[in-house]
Amino acid sequence: MPTSAETVQALSQIVGSAHCLSAAVDTEVFTTDYRKLYRGDALAVVLPGSTEEVSQVMAWCHAHQVRVVPQGGNTSLMGGAVPEKDSGAIVLNLRRMNRVLGIDPINDTLSLQAGVTLSGARAAAEGAGRLFPLRIGSEGSCQIGGNLATNAGGTAVLRYGNMRDLVLGIEAVLPDGRVYSSLRGLRKDNTGYDLKQLFIGSEGTLGIITAAVLKLYPQPRAVSAAFIAVQDPAAAVQLLSLAKQMAGPHVTAFELVSADAMTLVCDYLGGARPPLAGSPAWMVLMEFTGTGAQDELDAHLGAVLEAGMDKGWVQDAAVAASLSDVQAFWRLREEISDAQTRTGGSIKCDVSVPLSDIPAFIEEASARVQQLAPGSRMVIYGHMGDGNVHFNPLRPADVPARDYLDAHYHEVSTAVDSLVHQRQGSISAEHGIGVAKRDDLRLYKSEVELALMWQVKRALDPQGLLNPGKMLPTP
Ligand code: MLT
Ligand code: ZN
Repeated sequence: MPTSAETVQALSQIVGSAHCLSAAVDTEVFTTDYRKLYRGDALAVVLPGSTEEVSQVMAWCHAHQVRVVPQGGNTSLMGGAVPEKDSGAIVLNLRRMNRVLGIDPINDTLSLQAGVTLSGARAAAEGAGRLFPLRIGSEGSCQIGGNLATNAGGTAVLRYGNMRDLVLGIEAVLPDGRVYSSLRGLRKDNTGYDLKQLFIGSEGTLGIITAAVLKLYPQPRAVSAAFIAVQDPAAAVQLLSLAKQMAGPHVTAFELVSADAMTLVCDYLGGARPPLAGSPAWMVLMEFTGTGAQDELDAHLGAVLEAGMDKGWVQDAAVAASLSDVQAFWRLREEISDAQTRTGGSIKCDVSVPLSDIPAFIEEASARVQQLAPGSRMVIYGHMGDGNVHFNPLRPADVPARDYLDAHYHEVSTAVDSLVHQRQGSISAEHGIGVAKRDDLRLYKSEVELALMWQVKRALDPQGLLNPGKMLPTP
């Protein structure tokens, strides 16, 4: 295995010495995860500027048995994008590959390099009068390559689907340096295995995604949103079903927010005013979008709220009166994540169960948490419309974060995951596996599933060079 100095020397010749870092002061930001929970080290951090350079770097690493951790915006919540300690790996960060390659407004496609940020992709689409619909809180820093590698979800999945649904073609560099390219904007292509889907959601364990062709949609001209007080998650589920029946594809987002989550985020935002009076136990942020007139869309939203009130599912509602109200509502929702990080962190359970099971799941999991860690604040929020809740118990205000997490993290997350599993749910709905959930997979995937995952890994990466130690539990 080459030393760090030999690695730097060889890779500098490919990417240029300014783009091959090895001093700790330069590499730390690439070897530490976003929440500063995972700290590893690397032989070097390499920032290639083209697919050709990625291919040459990979070929050199393949020849010298050097492992590679692909990295986009380093916003993983699961420790998936940083090396582990003594990894003997390099980090290959794609941020220099940030060019939009083309937009075809007739084919409704956007071609770009993998290092374009999500907000950059959305802006490029908007510039052509189109929408790229993926929407997540980290859009200013996360990159399209990482969004693809982790099959990112977020707050508009209900209407548009996950990243897997939003891509038509990708280019990826394989562990031996060869380039797989399917950069085509086809909506129909039944010519055998859909190989690109292997790389999507593979968390960088099979190839390094370097470019993509994404689907675009009509730019909505109207948006209506309301924060709605509901008695409980059961009422929220009924309201969603009603909204889908009455407003069909206008229903773009349906986000659940618990009272503890709202209190936390308002506090984090320096005493922001909650949208609804009287501290309701449960709230929903419902958003409709459309390409028609604003007043028509407002009328649709109003009709759903009225029907929901008649049924007793809507207790109160604050309707956004302007675009800035809509943005303020979304700020409250999106900052819940960072509000938890600021408290020292919660027990993150990013889970999904069939939508019809959500109320019972929340009830039984909450009761279990209170048995195991009494007084926990129940920070429960997220994409209820997709059956995906972020079920994140948080320490009582007077208990130090470290004490709470040391005492309860393992027991609580295991208990929650097992309740999810009993309901045929997923222990990681949208955040992926990384290292955080890697060993838990052994409990929740069947022997056949795990064997197939390893067969795929060995077929594409027989030497185990790509993103070592991530996603796949040791067989
Ligand atoms: C969110 O929905 O806010 C994100 O998935 C991030 C998080 O849960 O922390
Ligand atoms: Zn989320």
